[in-house]
Amino acid sequence: MADISINFAGIKSPNPFWLASGPPSNTGYQVMKAFDCGWGGAVWKTMGIPTVNVSSRYGVVNYRKIRMVGLNNIELISDRRLTDNLKEIEEVKKYFPDRAVVASIMVQTRQEWHRIVKDVENAGADGIELNFSCPHGMSERGMGSSVGQEPKLVELLTGWVMEVAKIPVIVKLTPNISDITEPAQAAKRGGANAIALINTIQSIVGVDIDNFVPYPLVGSMSTNGGYSGPAIKPIALNMVKNCALDKDVALPISGIGGIETWRDSVEFMLLGAGSVQICTAVMHYGFGIIKRLILGLEDYLDEKGFESVNEIVGKALPNVTNWENLNLNYKVTAKIDKTKCTGCKLCYTACEDGAYQAIALPENPGDKYPIILEENCVGCNLCSLVCPVDKCIIMERKDDNNVVESWKERSEAGNVPSSFDDKLAGGFSHPVPDPLKALKSGEK
Ligand SMILES: Cc1cc2nc3c(=O)[nH]c(=O)nc-3n(C[C@H](O)[C@H](O)[C@H](O)COP(=O)(O)O)c2cc1C
Ligand code: SF4
Ligand code: SF4
Repeated sequence: MADISINFAGIKSPNPFWLASGPPSNTGYQVMKAFDCGWGGAVWKTMGIPTVNVSSRYGVVNYRKIRMVGLNNIELISDRRLTDNLKEIEEVKKYFPDRAVVASIMVQTRQEWHRIVKDVENAGADGIELNFSCPHGMSERGMGSSVGQEPKLVELLTGWVMEVAKIPVIVKLTPNISDITEPAQAAKRGGANAIALINTIQSIVGVDIDNFVPYPLVGSMSTNGGYSGPAIKPIALNMVKNCALDKDVALPISGIGGIETWRDSVEFMLLGAGSVQICTAVMHYGFGIIKRLILGLEDYLDEKGFESVNEIVGKALPNVTNWENLNLNYKVTAKIDKTKCTGCKLCYTACEDGAYQAIALPENPGDKYPIILEENCVGCNLCSLVCPVDKCIIMERKDDNNVVESWKERSEAGNVPSSFDDKLAGGFSHPVPDPLKALKSGEK
Protein backbone atom coordinates (compact mmCIF):
# COMPACT_ATOMS: atom_id res chain seq x y z
CA MET A 1 0.00 0.00 0.00
CA ALA A 2 1.23 3.49 -0.87
CA ASP A 3 2.72 5.62 1.91
CA ILE A 4 0.45 8.61 2.54
CA SER A 5 2.47 10.22 5.32
CA ILE A 6 3.87 13.66 4.65
CA ASN A 7 6.55 15.98 5.89
CA PHE A 8 5.14 19.38 5.04
CA ALA A 9 7.80 22.08 5.47
CA GLY A 10 9.10 20.15 8.49
CA ILE A 11 5.65 19.35 9.93
CA LYS A 12 5.09 15.59 9.99
CA SER A 13 1.67 14.07 9.59
CA PRO A 14 0.52 10.45 9.02
CA ASN A 15 -1.69 11.62 6.15
CA PRO A 16 -2.09 14.87 4.19
CA PHE A 17 -5.58 15.66 5.52
CA TRP A 18 -5.75 18.52 8.03
CA LEU A 19 -8.71 20.31 9.55
CA ALA A 20 -8.58 23.90 8.28
CA SER A 21 -8.77 26.62 10.90
CA GLY A 22 -12.45 27.16 11.70
CA PRO A 23 -15.32 25.90 13.86
CA PRO A 24 -14.28 22.18 13.64
CA SER A 25 -10.88 23.03 15.20
CA ASN A 26 -12.21 25.41 17.83
CA THR A 27 -11.64 23.21 20.90
CA GLY A 28 -9.44 20.44 22.21
CA TYR A 29 -12.52 18.22 22.39
CA GLN A 30 -13.13 18.56 18.64
CA VAL A 31 -9.50 18.16 17.58
CA MET A 32 -9.13 15.12 19.85
CA LYS A 33 -12.26 13.59 18.29
CA ALA A 34 -11.00 14.37 14.77
CA PHE A 35 -7.63 12.75 15.47
CA ASP A 36 -9.40 9.75 16.95
CA CYS A 37 -11.27 9.43 13.63
CA GLY A 38 -7.98 9.52 11.70
CA TRP A 39 -7.28 13.13 10.69
CA GLY A 40 -3.58 13.70 10.15
CA GLY A 41 -3.48 17.26 11.42
CA ALA A 42 -5.46 20.26 12.54
CA VAL A 43 -4.95 23.96 12.14
CA TRP A 44 -6.43 25.36 15.35
CA LYS A 45 -9.17 27.98 15.09
CA THR A 46 -7.27 31.28 14.86
CA MET A 47 -6.15 32.54 18.26
CA GLY A 48 -5.43 36.08 19.33
CA ILE A 49 -7.07 38.63 21.58
CA PRO A 50 -10.46 36.88 22.01
CA THR A 51 -13.42 38.22 20.05
CA VAL A 52 -17.16 38.58 20.55
CA ASN A 53 -19.30 37.02 17.83
CA VAL A 54 -22.79 37.81 16.49
CA SER A 55 -25.68 35.48 15.76
CA SER A 56 -26.65 34.36 13.25
CA ARG A 57 -23.31 33.93 11.44
CA TYR A 58 -23.86 31.77 8.39
CA GLY A 59 -25.60 32.18 5.07
CA VAL A 60 -25.88 29.56 2.39
CA VAL A 61 -26.20 28.91 -1.33
CA ASN A 62 -28.33 25.84 -2.00
CA TYR A 63 -28.38 24.75 -5.62
CA ARG A 64 -31.59 23.00 -6.52
CA LYS A 65 -31.67 19.93 -4.25
CA ILE A 66 -28.08 20.21 -3.07
CA ARG A 67 -27.67 22.06 0.22
CA MET A 68 -24.68 24.17 1.10
CA VAL A 69 -22.95 24.30 -2.26
CA GLY A 70 -21.51 27.51 -0.84
CA LEU A 71 -21.33 28.76 2.75
CA ASN A 72 -20.91 32.33 3.84
CA ASN A 73 -19.73 33.21 7.35
CA ILE A 74 -19.28 36.38 9.34
CA GLU A 75 -17.58 34.65 12.23
CA LEU A 76 -14.43 36.16 13.72
CA ILE A 77 -11.33 34.46 15.13
CA SER A 78 -11.58 32.47 18.38
CA ASP A 79 -13.81 33.95 21.05
CA ARG A 80 -12.15 31.68 23.64
CA ARG A 81 -9.41 32.70 26.05
CA LEU A 82 -5.89 32.09 24.79
CA THR A 83 -4.90 30.25 27.97
CA ASP A 84 -7.74 27.74 27.48
CA ASN A 85 -6.72 27.10 23.89
CA LEU A 86 -3.06 26.65 24.87
CA LYS A 87 -3.93 24.19 27.62
CA GLU A 88 -6.00 22.14 25.17
CA ILE A 89 -3.26 22.13 22.51
CA GLU A 90 -0.91 20.71 25.12
CA GLU A 91 -3.40 18.02 26.04
CA VAL A 92 -4.11 17.03 22.44
CA LYS A 93 -0.39 16.75 21.70
CA LYS A 94 0.03 14.48 24.72
CA TYR A 95 -2.53 12.01 23.35
CA PHE A 96 -1.58 12.36 19.69
CA PRO A 97 2.15 13.12 19.44
CA ASP A 98 2.25 11.84 15.84
CA ARG A 99 -0.40 14.28 14.53
CA ALA A 100 0.23 17.79 13.26
CA VAL A 101 -1.14 20.57 15.43
CA VAL A 102 -0.70 23.91 13.71
CA ALA A 103 -1.55 27.03 15.70
CA SER A 104 -3.30 29.68 13.62
CA ILE A 105 -2.64 33.11 15.07
CA MET A 106 -3.62 36.71 14.40
CA VAL A 107 -2.59 39.74 16.45
CA GLN A 108 -1.50 43.29 15.72
CA THR A 109 1.70 44.61 17.24
CA ARG A 110 5.21 43.19 16.95
CA GLN A 111 5.18 42.56 20.69
CA GLU A 112 1.91 40.64 20.48
CA TRP A 113 3.21 38.52 17.57
CA HIS A 114 6.38 37.66 19.54
CA ARG A 115 4.41 36.79 22.66
CA ILE A 116 1.84 34.55 20.97
CA VAL A 117 4.46 32.73 18.88
CA LYS A 118 6.28 31.78 22.09
CA ASP A 119 3.02 30.79 23.79
CA VAL A 120 1.95 28.37 21.07
CA GLU A 121 5.44 26.92 20.81
CA ASN A 122 5.49 26.32 24.56
CA ALA A 123 2.11 24.60 24.27
CA GLY A 124 3.68 22.08 21.89
CA ALA A 125 2.33 23.18 18.50
CA ASP A 126 4.19 21.63 15.55
CA GLY A 127 3.76 24.65 13.33
CA ILE A 128 2.27 28.12 13.13
CA GLU A 129 -0.14 29.53 10.55
CA LEU A 130 -0.36 33.29 10.19
CA ASN A 131 -3.91 34.36 9.42
CA PHE A 132 -3.41 37.21 6.93
CA SER A 133 -6.60 36.26 5.22
CA CYS A 134 -9.88 36.55 7.17
CA PRO A 135 -11.96 38.87 4.93
CA HIS A 136 -14.53 40.27 7.35
CA GLY A 137 -14.65 41.83 10.80
CA MET A 138 -10.97 41.36 11.64
CA SER A 139 -9.99 43.08 8.39
CA GLU A 140 -11.93 46.19 9.49
CA ARG A 141 -9.58 46.24 12.48
CA GLY A 142 -6.45 46.20 10.31
CA MET A 143 -5.81 42.46 10.58
CA GLY A 144 -6.59 39.38 8.44
CA SER A 145 -7.05 40.12 4.75
CA SER A 146 -6.15 43.77 5.15
CA VAL A 147 -2.62 42.46 5.80
CA GLY A 148 -2.86 39.79 3.09
CA GLN A 149 -3.87 42.36 0.50
CA GLU A 150 -0.69 44.40 1.08
CA PRO A 151 2.44 42.46 0.11
CA LYS A 152 4.61 44.90 2.07
CA LEU A 153 2.67 44.15 5.26
CA VAL A 154 2.81 40.40 4.57
CA GLU A 155 6.59 40.62 4.32
CA LEU A 156 6.92 42.84 7.39
CA LEU A 157 4.65 40.82 9.69
CA THR A 158 6.07 37.48 8.50
CA GLY A 159 9.50 38.90 9.30
CA TRP A 160 8.38 39.81 12.84
CA VAL A 161 7.24 36.23 13.40
CA MET A 162 10.42 34.74 11.91
CA GLU A 163 12.50 36.81 14.37
CA VAL A 164 11.36 34.49 17.14
CA ALA A 165 9.75 31.38 15.62
CA LYS A 166 11.52 28.07 16.18
CA ILE A 167 8.90 25.89 14.45
CA PRO A 168 7.75 26.01 10.79
CA VAL A 169 5.64 29.01 9.82
CA ILE A 170 2.89 28.90 7.19
CA VAL A 171 1.39 32.12 5.80
CA LYS A 172 -2.32 31.78 4.97
CA LEU A 173 -3.27 33.91 1.97
CA THR A 174 -6.46 35.71 1.04
CA PRO A 175 -8.02 35.16 -2.40
CA ASN A 176 -9.49 38.68 -2.26
CA ILE A 177 -6.70 40.07 -4.40
CA SER A 178 -6.04 40.28 -8.14
CA ASP A 179 -2.70 38.43 -8.19
CA ILE A 180 -2.20 35.83 -5.47
CA THR A 181 1.49 35.41 -6.31
CA GLU A 182 2.30 38.90 -5.00
CA PRO A 183 1.52 38.18 -1.32
CA ALA A 184 2.92 34.65 -1.80
CA GLN A 185 6.25 36.10 -2.92
CA ALA A 186 6.11 38.56 -0.02
CA ALA A 187 5.66 35.66 2.40
CA LYS A 188 8.76 34.06 0.92
CA ARG A 189 10.73 37.30 1.24
CA GLY A 190 9.58 37.56 4.86
CA GLY A 191 11.11 34.13 5.53
CA ALA A 192 7.97 31.93 5.71
CA ASN A 193 8.46 28.18 5.43
CA ALA A 194 5.22 27.55 3.54
CA ILE A 195 1.98 29.10 2.34
CA ALA A 196 -1.65 28.00 2.72
CA LEU A 197 -4.47 29.03 0.40
CA ILE A 198 -7.22 29.97 0.11
CA ASN A 199 -9.17 31.57 2.92
CA THR A 200 -12.76 32.56 2.19
CA ILE A 201 -13.90 34.83 -0.65
CA GLN A 202 -15.72 38.07 0.18
CA SER A 203 -19.36 37.55 -0.57
CA ILE A 204 -23.04 38.17 -0.04
CA VAL A 205 -24.94 34.94 -0.63
CA GLY A 206 -28.41 36.37 -0.97
CA VAL A 207 -30.94 38.89 0.20
CA ASP A 208 -34.14 38.41 2.22
CA ILE A 209 -36.44 39.97 -0.39
CA ASP A 210 -39.32 40.42 2.06
CA ASN A 211 -37.33 42.31 4.66
CA PHE A 212 -34.68 43.82 2.37
CA VAL A 213 -31.71 42.49 4.34
CA PRO A 214 -28.85 40.35 3.02
CA TYR A 215 -28.12 37.01 4.71
CA PRO A 216 -27.12 36.14 7.37
CA LEU A 217 -29.52 38.25 9.40
CA VAL A 218 -28.25 39.89 12.55
CA GLY A 219 -31.58 41.34 13.59
CA SER A 220 -32.53 43.61 10.74
CA MET A 221 -28.97 44.19 9.53
CA SER A 222 -26.20 42.20 7.88
CA THR A 223 -22.71 42.49 6.45
CA ASN A 224 -20.55 40.86 3.79
CA GLY A 225 -18.85 37.62 4.78
CA GLY A 226 -16.46 34.94 3.55
CA TYR A 227 -17.52 32.28 1.01
CA SER A 228 -16.38 28.65 1.33
CA GLY A 229 -17.42 25.14 0.33
CA PRO A 230 -17.58 23.30 -3.04
CA ALA A 231 -18.44 26.49 -4.96
CA ILE A 232 -15.00 27.99 -4.36
CA LYS A 233 -12.88 24.99 -5.39
CA PRO A 234 -12.19 26.19 -8.97
CA ILE A 235 -10.91 29.54 -7.71
CA ALA A 236 -8.73 27.85 -5.11
CA LEU A 237 -7.28 25.35 -7.60
CA ASN A 238 -6.29 28.14 -9.96
CA MET A 239 -4.61 30.14 -7.20
CA VAL A 240 -2.73 27.07 -5.94
CA LYS A 241 -1.56 26.45 -9.51
CA ASN A 242 -0.44 30.08 -9.89
CA CYS A 243 1.65 29.93 -6.73
CA ALA A 244 3.05 26.48 -7.56
CA LEU A 245 4.24 27.66 -10.98
CA ASP A 246 5.77 30.91 -9.75
CA LYS A 247 9.54 30.55 -9.40
CA ASP A 248 9.71 33.46 -6.95
CA VAL A 249 7.29 31.72 -4.57
CA ALA A 250 8.94 28.28 -4.41
CA LEU A 251 7.37 27.31 -1.07
CA PRO A 252 5.42 24.22 0.02
CA ILE A 253 1.67 24.83 -0.41
CA SER A 254 -1.18 23.69 1.80
CA GLY A 255 -4.24 23.60 -0.46
CA ILE A 256 -7.62 24.74 0.86
CA GLY A 257 -11.00 25.56 -0.65
CA GLY A 258 -14.07 23.47 -1.29
CA ILE A 259 -12.48 20.09 -0.70
CA GLU A 260 -15.02 17.35 0.09
CA THR A 261 -13.69 14.16 -1.44
CA TRP A 262 -10.42 12.30 -1.98
CA ARG A 263 -10.68 13.25 -5.64
CA ASP A 264 -10.83 16.97 -4.77
CA SER A 265 -7.76 16.45 -2.59
CA VAL A 266 -5.86 14.67 -5.36
CA GLU A 267 -6.66 17.53 -7.73
CA PHE A 268 -5.13 20.03 -5.30
CA MET A 269 -2.04 17.83 -4.90
CA LEU A 270 -1.61 17.38 -8.65
CA LEU A 271 -1.52 21.18 -8.92
CA GLY A 272 1.13 21.51 -6.24
CA ALA A 273 -0.39 21.15 -2.76
CA GLY A 274 1.69 19.09 -0.34
CA SER A 275 -1.10 18.96 2.25
CA VAL A 276 -4.80 19.78 2.12
CA GLN A 277 -7.07 21.46 4.63
CA ILE A 278 -10.83 21.09 4.97
CA CYS A 279 -13.37 23.15 6.91
CA THR A 280 -16.83 23.45 5.33
CA ALA A 281 -17.17 19.76 4.39
CA VAL A 282 -16.50 18.86 8.04
CA MET A 283 -19.08 21.42 9.16
CA HIS A 284 -21.53 19.73 6.79
CA TYR A 285 -20.74 16.03 7.17
CA GLY A 286 -18.60 15.69 10.31
CA PHE A 287 -15.17 14.26 11.07
CA GLY A 288 -16.18 10.83 9.71
CA ILE A 289 -15.42 11.88 6.11
CA ILE A 290 -11.75 11.19 6.86
CA LYS A 291 -12.29 7.45 6.40
CA ARG A 292 -13.26 7.80 2.75
CA LEU A 293 -10.65 10.49 2.15
CA ILE A 294 -7.88 8.14 3.26
CA LEU A 295 -9.24 5.02 1.54
CA GLY A 296 -9.87 6.87 -1.71
CA LEU A 297 -6.39 8.40 -1.76
CA GLU A 298 -4.72 5.06 -0.98
CA ASP A 299 -6.70 3.25 -3.68
CA TYR A 300 -5.91 5.95 -6.23
CA LEU A 301 -2.18 5.83 -5.48
CA ASP A 302 -2.11 2.02 -5.60
CA GLU A 303 -4.09 1.89 -8.82
CA LYS A 304 -1.75 4.37 -10.51
CA GLY A 305 1.35 2.63 -9.19
CA PHE A 306 2.62 5.44 -6.95
CA GLU A 307 4.53 4.42 -3.84
CA SER A 308 4.06 7.63 -1.94
CA VAL A 309 1.64 10.54 -1.93
CA ASN A 310 4.58 12.89 -2.41
CA GLU A 311 5.02 11.55 -5.95
CA ILE A 312 1.78 13.19 -7.11
CA VAL A 313 2.49 16.68 -5.74
CA GLY A 314 2.68 18.99 -8.77
CA LYS A 315 2.27 16.12 -11.26
CA ALA A 316 -0.22 18.10 -13.41
CA LEU A 317 1.84 21.29 -13.48
CA PRO A 318 3.90 20.45 -16.60
CA ASN A 319 0.56 20.18 -18.44
CA VAL A 320 -0.55 23.71 -17.56
CA THR A 321 0.54 26.53 -19.81
CA ASN A 322 -0.53 29.96 -20.99
CA TRP A 323 -3.31 30.17 -23.58
CA GLU A 324 -0.85 31.42 -26.19
CA ASN A 325 0.93 28.04 -26.17
CA LEU A 326 -2.13 25.88 -26.84
CA ASN A 327 -2.36 24.04 -30.16
CA LEU A 328 -4.77 25.99 -32.43
CA ASN A 329 -4.92 23.06 -34.83
CA TYR A 330 -6.25 20.55 -32.29
CA LYS A 331 -9.79 19.90 -33.50
CA VAL A 332 -12.67 17.92 -32.00
CA THR A 333 -16.32 17.71 -32.99
CA ALA A 334 -19.34 16.38 -31.16
CA LYS A 335 -20.79 12.95 -31.86
CA ILE A 336 -24.06 11.62 -30.43
CA ASP A 337 -24.26 7.98 -29.35
CA LYS A 338 -27.78 7.08 -30.52
CA THR A 339 -27.88 3.99 -28.32
CA LYS A 340 -27.81 6.29 -25.27
CA CYS A 341 -29.72 9.36 -26.50
CA THR A 342 -33.17 9.92 -24.94
CA GLY A 343 -34.16 12.66 -27.41
CA CYS A 344 -34.48 15.32 -24.70
CA LYS A 345 -33.14 18.01 -27.11
CA LEU A 346 -31.15 19.84 -24.42
CA CYS A 347 -28.09 19.68 -26.65
CA TYR A 348 -30.02 21.25 -29.53
CA THR A 349 -31.22 24.18 -27.41
CA ALA A 350 -27.78 24.82 -25.94
CA CYS A 351 -26.00 24.75 -29.30
CA GLU A 352 -28.75 26.64 -31.15
CA ASP A 353 -29.09 29.55 -28.71
CA GLY A 354 -25.87 29.41 -26.74
CA ALA A 355 -23.26 28.16 -29.15
CA TYR A 356 -22.80 27.67 -32.91
CA GLN A 357 -26.04 26.33 -34.44
CA ALA A 358 -24.36 23.02 -35.16
CA ILE A 359 -27.17 20.73 -34.02
CA ALA A 360 -30.31 20.20 -36.07
CA LEU A 361 -33.55 18.62 -34.96
CA PRO A 362 -34.56 15.52 -36.88
CA GLU A 363 -36.54 16.45 -39.99
CA ASN A 364 -38.77 13.42 -39.74
CA PRO A 365 -41.11 13.84 -36.72
CA GLY A 366 -40.78 10.10 -36.08
CA ASP A 367 -37.02 10.41 -35.40
CA LYS A 368 -35.94 11.48 -31.96
CA TYR A 369 -32.20 12.02 -32.29
CA PRO A 370 -30.73 15.46 -32.98
CA ILE A 371 -28.14 15.59 -35.75
CA ILE A 372 -24.68 17.15 -35.46
CA LEU A 373 -23.85 19.41 -38.44
CA GLU A 374 -20.15 18.75 -38.46
CA GLU A 375 -19.16 21.68 -40.66
CA ASN A 376 -20.67 24.11 -38.11
CA CYS A 377 -19.32 22.40 -35.02
CA VAL A 378 -16.40 24.26 -33.47
CA GLY A 379 -15.89 21.60 -30.81
CA CYS A 380 -16.75 23.94 -27.96
CA ASN A 381 -17.98 21.04 -25.79
CA LEU A 382 -21.17 22.72 -24.54
CA CYS A 383 -23.58 20.05 -25.81
CA SER A 384 -21.68 17.25 -24.10
CA LEU A 385 -21.70 19.24 -20.86
CA VAL A 386 -25.45 19.85 -20.87
CA CYS A 387 -26.40 16.34 -22.03
CA PRO A 388 -27.88 14.57 -19.00
CA VAL A 389 -26.80 11.11 -20.20
CA ASP A 390 -23.26 10.11 -19.31
CA LYS A 391 -20.95 9.70 -22.35
CA CYS A 392 -23.88 10.13 -24.76
CA ILE A 393 -22.13 12.99 -26.56
CA ILE A 394 -18.45 12.40 -27.06
CA MET A 395 -15.92 14.75 -28.60
CA GLU A 396 -14.16 13.07 -31.50
CA ARG A 397 -10.69 14.07 -32.61
CA LYS A 398 -10.61 15.27 -36.21
CA ASP A 399 -7.16 16.74 -36.85
CA ASP A 400 -4.26 14.48 -37.79
CA ASN A 401 -1.89 16.01 -35.20
CA ASN A 402 0.62 16.69 -37.97
CA VAL A 403 0.88 20.45 -37.68
CA VAL A 404 0.96 21.80 -34.14
CA GLU A 405 0.75 25.57 -34.10
CA SER A 406 0.15 27.95 -31.21
CA TRP A 407 -1.05 31.56 -31.16
CA LYS A 408 2.46 32.52 -30.11
CA GLU A 409 3.96 30.78 -33.13
CA ARG A 410 1.36 32.24 -35.48
CA SER A 411 1.99 35.72 -34.08
CA GLU A 412 5.72 35.35 -34.56
CA ALA A 413 5.05 34.28 -38.17
CA GLY A 414 2.76 37.33 -38.71
CA ASN A 415 -0.17 35.00 -39.39
CA VAL A 416 -2.83 36.36 -36.98
CA PRO A 417 -5.68 38.88 -37.43
CA SER A 418 -4.44 42.43 -36.97
CA SER A 419 -7.34 44.60 -38.18
CA PHE A 420 -11.08 44.62 -37.36
CA ASP A 421 -12.07 43.01 -40.68
CA ASP A 422 -9.15 40.68 -41.05
CA LYS A 423 -9.90 37.50 -43.05
CA LEU A 424 -7.59 35.55 -40.74
CA ALA A 425 -10.30 35.68 -38.04
CA GLY A 426 -11.19 32.25 -36.65
CA GLY A 427 -14.90 32.79 -37.30
CA PHE A 428 -14.37 32.30 -41.03
CA SER A 429 -13.80 28.62 -40.47
CA HIS A 430 -17.45 27.71 -39.86
CA PRO A 431 -20.74 28.78 -41.52
CA VAL A 432 -23.01 31.29 -39.74
CA PRO A 433 -26.77 31.42 -40.52
CA ASP A 434 -28.38 34.49 -42.08
CA PRO A 435 -29.85 36.67 -39.23
CA LEU A 436 -33.25 36.79 -40.95
CA LYS A 437 -33.59 33.03 -40.66
CA ALA A 438 -33.96 33.54 -36.90
CA LEU A 439 -37.36 35.21 -37.40
CA LYS A 440 -38.97 32.09 -38.81
CA SER A 441 -37.60 29.57 -36.29
CA GLY A 442 -39.67 30.40 -33.20
CA GLU A 443 -39.91 27.91 -30.32
CA LYS A 444 -39.36 24.31 -31.35
C1 LIG B 1 -17.30 29.41 9.75
C2 LIG B 1 -15.88 29.54 9.30
C3 LIG B 1 -14.93 30.06 10.15
C4 LIG B 1 -13.60 30.19 9.74
N1 LIG B 1 -12.67 30.67 10.61
C5 LIG B 1 -11.37 30.74 10.21
C6 LIG B 1 -10.37 31.15 11.12
O1 LIG B 1 -10.62 31.43 12.29
N2 LIG B 1 -9.10 31.24 10.67
C7 LIG B 1 -8.76 30.93 9.38
O2 LIG B 1 -7.58 31.01 9.01
N3 LIG B 1 -9.70 30.50 8.51
C8 LIG B 1 -10.98 30.40 8.91
N4 LIG B 1 -11.93 29.94 8.02
C9 LIG B 1 -11.54 29.63 6.65
C10 LIG B 1 -11.22 28.15 6.44
O3 LIG B 1 -10.12 27.74 7.21
C11 LIG B 1 -10.93 27.84 4.94
O4 LIG B 1 -9.80 28.58 4.55
C12 LIG B 1 -12.09 28.21 4.04
O5 LIG B 1 -13.32 27.96 4.66
C13 LIG B 1 -12.05 27.45 2.72
O6 LIG B 1 -12.05 26.05 2.92
P1 LIG B 1 -13.39 25.14 2.89
O7 LIG B 1 -14.08 25.38 1.59
O8 LIG B 1 -12.88 23.73 3.07
O9 LIG B 1 -14.21 25.58 4.04
C14 LIG B 1 -13.25 29.80 8.44
C15 LIG B 1 -14.21 29.25 7.59
C16 LIG B 1 -15.51 29.10 8.01
C17 LIG B 1 -16.51 28.50 7.07
S1 SF4 C 1 -19.50 21.04 -29.57
FE1 SF4 C 1 -20.36 23.10 -29.46
S2 SF4 C 1 -20.64 23.71 -31.60
FE2 SF4 C 1 -20.35 21.49 -31.61
S3 SF4 C 1 -22.40 20.68 -31.54
FE3 SF4 C 1 -21.71 20.81 -29.44
S4 SF4 C 1 -22.43 22.80 -28.70
FE4 SF4 C 1 -22.57 22.80 -30.92
S1 SF4 D 1 -28.87 16.15 -24.73
FE1 SF4 D 1 -28.07 14.08 -24.92
S2 SF4 D 1 -29.83 12.78 -24.50
FE2 SF4 D 1 -30.64 14.80 -24.90
S3 SF4 D 1 -31.06 14.78 -27.10
FE3 SF4 D 1 -29.01 15.58 -26.88
S4 SF4 D 1 -27.71 13.80 -27.09
FE4 SF4 D 1 -29.75 13.03 -26.70
